[in-house]
Formats: sequence, C-alpha cells, structure tokens
Amino acid sequence: MAERRKLIAGNWKMNGLKADGLELASDLAGRLKGAGAVAFDMLVCPPFPLLFPVGEAITDSPLALGGQDCAPKLSGAHTGDVSPQMLKDAGCSFVILGHSERRQDHGETDAAVKAKAEAAIGQGLVAIICVGETEAQREAGQAEAVVGAQVAGSLPAGANAATVVIAYEPVWAIGTGKTATPADVAAMHGFIRAELAKALGDADAVRILYGGSVKPGNAAELMSTADVDGALVGGASLKADDFWAIGTSCR
Ligand code: PGA
Repeated sequence: MAERRKLIAGNWKMNGLKADGLELASDLAGRLKGAGAVAFDMLVCPPFPLLFPVGEAITDSPLALGGQDCAPKLSGAHTGDVSPQMLKDAGCSFVILGHSERRQDHGETDAAVKAKAEAAIGQGLVAIICVGETEAQREAGQAEAVVGAQVAGSLPAGANAATVVIAYEPVWAIGTGKTATPADVAAMHGFIRAELAKALGDADAVRILYGGSVKPGNAAELMSTADVDGALVGGASLKADDFWAIGTSCR
C-alpha cells in the first residue's frame, strides 16, 4: 500500500482581516518550524485578499498556502474572478474546488469544477476537489450514488496522486457540530478510493481528506480511520491551538 502523508488543510472561508490572518498563519508557521519532523503537511487557505500578505509571511516555513476557488481561465474579461495563475503568483500550491458552499451558493456543477481543476493543474497547483451528500440524500440511501457521480464528473484530465486530493465533506456535517461516524467515514472513503481506481487505474496514493466539524476532540479518531488521509477544517482552523492540535493528532 502506498504511503500517504496526512494533509491538514484549513479552510478559513470568508473570515479574518489582514491582521488576523497574519497572526494565525505566522503562529502556525512558527510552530511547524519549531516542531521539526511532524507526521502531517499543513495548509492554510485564506480569503483572496489575504493571499499575498500571508504568502509573504510564511515563505520560509513548511506551511503551505492555498486558494478557496479559482477561475477555469488564466486571464481576460472575467470580472470578479481570480485565475489559478494569480494564485500561483501569490505563493499558492493548492486550491480548494467545488466546496459545497460554492456548489450551493454559486451553482457550481461538476463540469465547472472539472474545468477549474484542469486550469489549476495546468498551473502546477494541486486541486482539492470537494464532494459530499446532503442529509436528505443520505437518508434516502443515495450518499454513494451522489458522491460517486460528483467524483466521476469533477475529476480533471491529468488527475493523479500528485495533482489531485479529494475531500469528502458530508454537507450535513459542515459547521453543524455533527460528524459522520468513523464507520460511515471509512465506508465512504473506501468507496471513493474504489471509484478513483476505476477512473485512474491506480488510486492507492491519492489522498482523501475528511471534512465536516473536525475538532481537536474528534480528530485522533477520524485521522486513524481507514482511508482517511487528512482533514479539511473550517471553524477549528481559525484558532491556532485547535488547528495545531488536529495536526498533532496525526500518527
Ligand atoms: P467545518 O467546515 O470544519 O466548520 O465544519 C469544514 C469545511 O467546510 O471545509
């Protein structure tokens, strides 16, 4: 089995002004530097206006930087959009794509997510592709069908373990304090890996993150669950102590 290093990714969403972002990122960068060898990679994904200052503040640290979305194009007449080339220029190495809040609030389809991911990969970014079912879909027994279709439809050409990370985030677990049980998480992650293997041939090395109310109190159990290769963290990524504790829960 391939060795998959855990990825602990912080999705700041639409939170924080420049001073907050600089303080949080510098704190984490300092801890990472001081900690020496750790069992995880750590990533922060601030809102667009904070990417440049945060990127400059963490250049000399192992803390990685990512965007929360990008356009499927590199430049041009696309008011309000931010291109993957611009993310790269700001120091990003990752971009979150197809988060359920974007699928819901901005009507992003699987095809749109795929196009964005292809543009992002073309710029050398790693695309973190988010998938997940709603509570109604899970109750109707459709969780695997929904997630399987999202994986198949969103996966870019050129996807492999070096270009794509999948984040499974059940919509009903995001920001609600509810988490899926480790058994449900293991089942879904195993299902996703099998779907990836069908599409890619070999998915052994692809990282699959869990997201949805990950906190210091549940991180150790979730991070030791089969086929869970890290976490995509919203609320708890805004506090350095909590986010760091999630990282250090990785073994
Ligand atoms: P949460 O958000 O940790 O606040 O539930 C996770 C996410 O939406 O990525």
